[in-house]
Amino acid sequence: MTSWNGKTVLITGASVGIGECFARRFAKEKANLILVARRKDKMEAIAADIAKAHGVTVDVIAKDLGKPEAAGELFAETEELGLKVDVLINNAGFGIGGTFADSALDRNLEMLQLNITTLVELTHRYLPGMIARKDGAIINVASTAAFQAVPYLGAYAATKAFVLSFSEAVWDECRDQGVHVMALCPGATATEFFDVAQVGAGATTNMLRNAQTPEQVVENAMQGLRSKNSVVVSGFVNSLMSISSRFVPRDLATRIAGSMMKGK
Ligand SMILES: NC(=O)c1ccc[n+]([C@@H]2O[C@H](COP(=O)([O-])OP(=O)(O)OC[C@H]3O[C@@H](n4cnc5c(N)ncnc54)[C@H](OP(=O)(O)O)[C@@H]3O)[C@@H](O)[C@H]2O)c1
Repeated sequence: MTSWNGKTVLITGASVGIGECFARRFAKEKANLILVARRKDKMEAIAADIAKAHGVTVDVIAKDLGKPEAAGELFAETEELGLKVDVLINNAGFGIGGTFADSALDRNLEMLQLNITTLVELTHRYLPGMIARKDGAIINVASTAAFQAVPYLGAYAATKAFVLSFSEAVWDECRDQGVHVMALCPGATATEFFDVAQVGAGATTNMLRNAQTPEQVVENAMQGLRSKNSVVVSGFVNSLMSISSRFVPRDLATRIAGSMMKGK
């Protein structure tokens, strides 16, 4: 796929942050959009703004993707609306800061559902249509946290390790079939993520010191799409860190990540 003009892009987690930026960026390329998240009012405001600025069609589907039935419902709704999804961006996700033992079990299970199960189900549901058309792209938003364990954000980092590994495998399975699957690994990015994850003031300051903007992350993703990369780590320093974590002992990498997350 070389042009996004007239293509339909479904973005989960499109109400704010990186997802909203993806929406605005693809609209600039004259793609039609399907925005999915829980906050309908925010998405409707974005949709109105985008439609006015770029003259593209924007559908809004309010859905809690942390629920097991949500991915199936979303697929059925896009089918009923007659929408053919050319690009799927599995972006919705959240983290849980603090020690795992003290975190709420139901919140952890909701995170696994959203960050992993819904992402896998949406990929499984939309991919066959793309393969049949020999045209399509899927961006799964992972994280630099996928490259090593991250104490005090441990279950979240593990979900992103899953997303990275899963996406790389499906990239290889699909690359001769006209479908490009890509894992996008942002480092710390200035969005609502840290408030939602409640990682604490010290860790938030540490993480956001060299944070990228969501616009920078999306621009790097667009470049990765053009280059058909399997993995895009957003930003030079983040790329270096993701590579260097391979060359230090795993327990040392874990302890360094842990001390950053403790806010020391
Ligand atoms: N910010 C970072 O430092 C960073 C770094 C690496 C990776 N990431 C990843 O990037 C992705 C986007 O995060 P962000 O930084 O843009 O964070 P954000 O500003 O908190 O945005 C998260 C998005 O996900 C949606 N979402 C959350 N729970 C949902 C649910 N149950 N159902 C449907 N939508 C839901 C939110 O919309 P509603 O609340 O309206 O539902 C929102 O649109 C996530 O996968 C995150 O893990 C972020």
